[in-house]
Amino acid sequence: MKRYAIIAAGGSGSRMDSAIPKQFLAVNGKAILWHSVNAFAEAFDNITIIVVVPAAHEAQARQICNGFRDVVFTHGGVSRFQSVKNGLQHVKEPSIVFIHDAVRCLVTKDLLARCYRQAEEKGSAIPAVAVNDSLRVNEDGSHKVINRDNIVIIQTPQVFRSEIILPAFAVDDDPRFTDEATVVEASGGTVHLVEGEYTNLKITRPFDLQIAAAVLNERSALK
Ligand code: C5P
Repeated sequence: MKRYAIIAAGGSGSRMDSAIPKQFLAVNGKAILWHSVNAFAEAFDNITIIVVVPAAHEAQARQICNGFRDVVFTHGGVSRFQSVKNGLQHVKEPSIVFIHDAVRCLVTKDLLARCYRQAEEKGSAIPAVAVNDSLRVNEDGSHKVINRDNIVIIQTPQVFRSEIILPAFAVDDDPRFTDEATVVEASGGTVHLVEGEYTNLKITRPFDLQIAAAVLNERSALK
């Protein structure tokens, strides 16, 4: 089946203490955005990669993605929802649509294949991993422990059949939309979880860059 990957790289990355949005920072000699696009390009033939970037960074993104075929560019919006909605305008045929944080550049072929298979079968695949830390919730100036066995951490790619994700996004933005799964649920759809990966790190803070570099080094040593 035809595949699209929307790579959400439209954010400004304010938590990284860097003037450059984090998706443009380099890890092991290549931009984080390059590593993310490369993961999809290596995993699938017949995939159109839609890169959503801030308008001011389009030229830079085009340069980074120069060696890849079938890549299109569009501009980010004020929220991640708006950025993804702009990306979805480029989905032109019945397909499986991956929506991925550009800053999760350690995504593996295995995870992409698992998500693809499940989305084809069930309509959606939302990667999740169990929590290892103890958790507490702040409540009325106090706090109490919550049962971590009931909690999962949600990752990307969030993957859907196009006939599910396209109509779900035909709405205005809402503060409840923290990811694509919440948008699909608001439209009345059910979303299906799939096993995520602990290495599928969301690069957020400077220390994450060191972890990403170490993981990529180890993988290239194994090749
Ligand atoms: O800001 P946060 O870390 O949650 O962003 C997750 C991903 O969504 C990043 O890759 C970021 O570039 C993207 N994003 C976007 N458009 C926005 C905000 C975030 O594409 N307006």
